[in-house]
Amino acid sequence: MISERLKILANYVNKNDVVGDIGTDHGFIPIYLIENKKNNRMIASDLNEGPLDNAKKELSLKGLLDEVDLRIGSGLDPYKPGEIDTVIIAGMGGNLIRTILIEGKKHMEYLNKLILQPMHGVEELRRWILNNGFRITDEDLLFENNIFYEIIVAEKGEKQEYDETNLEFGFNMLNKNPEVSKSFLDMKIQKIEKIVEDIESHGSSMSQSRKEQFKDRIKHYYEVRKCL
Ligand SMILES: C[S@@+](CC[C@H](N)C(=O)[O-])C[C@H]1O[C@@H](n2cnc3c(N)ncnc32)[C@H](O)[C@@H]1O
Repeated sequence: MISERLKILANYVNKNDVVGDIGTDHGFIPIYLIENKKNNRMIASDLNEGPLDNAKKELSLKGLLDEVDLRIGSGLDPYKPGEIDTVIIAGMGGNLIRTILIEGKKHMEYLNKLILQPMHGVEELRRWILNNGFRITDEDLLFENNIFYEIIVAEKGEKQEYDETNLEFGFNMLNKNPEVSKSFLDMKIQKIEKIVEDIESHGSSMSQSRKEQFKDRIKHYYEVRKCL
């Protein structure tokens, strides 16, 4: 069954968009889009045969195999430039997503929308997006199966000014669901407190300036939390 995370991702696709789902695995996103009739032409690709077989199986079970163009290959390699206007890349590391976009340079002028869900490395991915002709137009933060997932939707547009806080938390992500955001910040605070505790309990020395950096980070998180 499709997860809340995948549903949220799929719901960012507009009617008539021509979509590439990179790293599709089970093919749940194309299935959801077809079943919800957004009139999308769908291409779904994966680097590996196993996941592509999963997608084939799921699509066959639903009688939808003819509706999705399944392709094998890395990143945007299996696509012709101009063939898709929207790309979904979810469930991979931010660095890999960034590499896929960088290596897919010849596709960039045709892509209007990026729907991304990095598992980590989110800050550097946001930096890349904002420095490469896209604006972050929507965001989500959700907690599912004990994991926080950050979703970034970016569209072609004029340069969006940003600061370090935007790189870490986006522009509006934390305001969407303050309760989830508070838990997200608590998790970040606990992570730093644990690092400090571990270093100290192992008897390793930590410079005063490093300690101050950690303290400032925690203070910053509390300040962000207070605004929610
Ligand atoms: C964890 S799964 C995520 C599946 C789905 N997108 C989701 O979010 O539930 C990652 C998928 O990406 C595929 N993958 C990894 N590197 C890739 C690449 N460079 N190009 C295309 N697919 C890739 C893997 O084979 C795997 O099926």
